[in-house]
Amino acid sequence: MTAIEITRPGGPEVLAPTTRPVPVPKDREILVKVRAAGVNRPDSLQREGGYPPPPGASDIPGLEIAGTVVARGDLAGPWQVGDAVTALVAGGGYAEYAVVDGSNALPLPDGYDFIKAAALPETFFTVWSNVFDRAGLQPGESFLVHGGTSGIGTTAIQLAKAFGATVFATAGSADKCRVCRDLGADLAVNYRDEDFVAAVKQATGGKGVDVILDMVGGDYIDRNYEAAAVEGRIVQIAFLRGPKQTVNFTRLMLKRLTHTGSTLRARDPAFKARIAASLEEKVWPLLAAGTVAPVIDAVLPLAQAAEAHRLLEADHVGKIMLTT
Ligand SMILES: NC(=O)c1ccc[n+]([C@@H]2O[C@H](COP(=O)([O-])OP(=O)(O)OC[C@H]3O[C@@H](n4cnc5c(N)ncnc54)[C@H](OP(=O)(O)O)[C@@H]3O)[C@@H](O)[C@H]2O)c1
Repeated sequence: MTAIEITRPGGPEVLAPTTRPVPVPKDREILVKVRAAGVNRPDSLQREGGYPPPPGASDIPGLEIAGTVVARGDLAGPWQVGDAVTALVAGGGYAEYAVVDGSNALPLPDGYDFIKAAALPETFFTVWSNVFDRAGLQPGESFLVHGGTSGIGTTAIQLAKAFGATVFATAGSADKCRVCRDLGADLAVNYRDEDFVAAVKQATGGKGVDVILDMVGGDYIDRNYEAAAVEGRIVQIAFLRGPKQTVNFTRLMLKRLTHTGSTLRARDPAFKARIAASLEEKVWPLLAAGTVAPVIDAVLPLAQAAEAHRLLEADHVGKIMLTT
């Protein structure tokens, strides 16, 4: 099969087509003929050499796919050859075929094609797990996501809104702030012009925000503590401005904040299966109804994975997708 490999750590140009054997599904796995795959920021980190695949995962990048089941192990759950699925994979998505634990696959939401379906797993699993399970966002609470027009941000805005939160987002331009508002954000702050702490304090009558999803880190750590409400929960999913910072922890104590974080990729299939079950029950109906939808910026052929990474690292809104 054709796959895209990382020939050496470096920029987008190190991604190159190669020929690999079609993977063979183990007992609990299905083999999927990939029709579309999502491109995510963690793929860039892996390409640069900073995010190695967990033990046992393919070295081929790609964390989400959609396609057709073409073979299955004996214990791979209800899937039959010919079924259309979308799946969260621990690697190997940039390829014509990929294997995945059957419990980490979901049916396509009603009315979805393979491209839209492949745009779901990485951001929907991540947002569900961190915002709803880990931070316990409740209807009527307020929610702030940084990077509002990222794949993660566009998903987080829509899901938080759909589940009854007041939603705030930050983004790096007026146009991106408009996109955040179109997706349902009650307030979008252009962080280049405005202080998000002051903006969310004003919007909450001085109370601050109940839940913050942060991918920025660096100086945002201190500022998130300032922006948070008493008993606020802050979930860290990346550190685009760096993981090391001098922080005034007094607010953590005085406001009884919870600051936590997680990474999804290395978690075992059983953990991911629990998220898949929640998504199928609570979110798939919203996707079918059109209440929530992935935001897709560009679709490129698999062979142009390097160009897809250039787009991901330049200005984009939502997801970049590859098709086979
Ligand atoms: N922990 C996990 O399990 C997990 C899973 C998936 C993704 N992630 C992380 O979540 C983040 C988003 O992923 P994605 O695929 O959605 O990425 P993406 O679409 O490439 O978005 C990255 C966003 O970060 C913002 N940004 C970049 N540098 C910034 C800075 N210095 N200050 C403020 N904002 C900055 C950009 O917004 P502006 O243009 O508005 O600045 C952009 O929207 C990535 O860092 C990724 O590694 C973590």
